[in-house]
Amino acid sequence: MSSPRKDVSSKQNQRLLSAARKAMKRAYAPYSQFKVGAALLTSKGEVFTGCNVENASYGMSNCAERTAIFAAIAKSGPGLNIRAIAVVNDQGVPCSPCGACRQVIYEFGPEAMIFFQSSKGWKESHITELLPEGFRLK
Ligand code: THU
Repeated sequence: MSSPRKDVSSKQNQRLLSAARKAMKRAYAPYSQFKVGAALLTSKGEVFTGCNVENASYGMSNCAERTAIFAAIAKSGPGLNIRAIAVVNDQGVPCSPCGACRQVIYEFGPEAMIFFQSSKGWKESHITELLPEGFRLK
């Protein structure tokens, strides 16, 4: 079954990009030196942000996207519905959400739009384009 694609207005995209840039400045990335910020828009119109938080045990690092999602749930509870999420980095290079983040985005946003920098410039993709056949229990 195909999911309807609901593009976010350019005003909302700008709002998300500026919130993501602000969050990116708070990143803790001493190992990769690659700061990432994310901002998500809920179906209720709220915005939540996150940055990457690394660890000396590298695998324990958390991406900006998941930080934003976990912050949203910590603040507003488990009813989160992600309408869109924007991702920025401090090097201006292509950066789409990693596989783990795609699955976490899908859990709370099976129709989410993802705004990110691709090798061909800024791109807006439906989560199911980035993660076909996402996993869901029940
Ligand atoms: N990172 C993110 O936070 N989001 C992405 O979409 C890609 C990668 C982080 C993880 C790690 O702290 C650093 O970027 C380098 O991989």
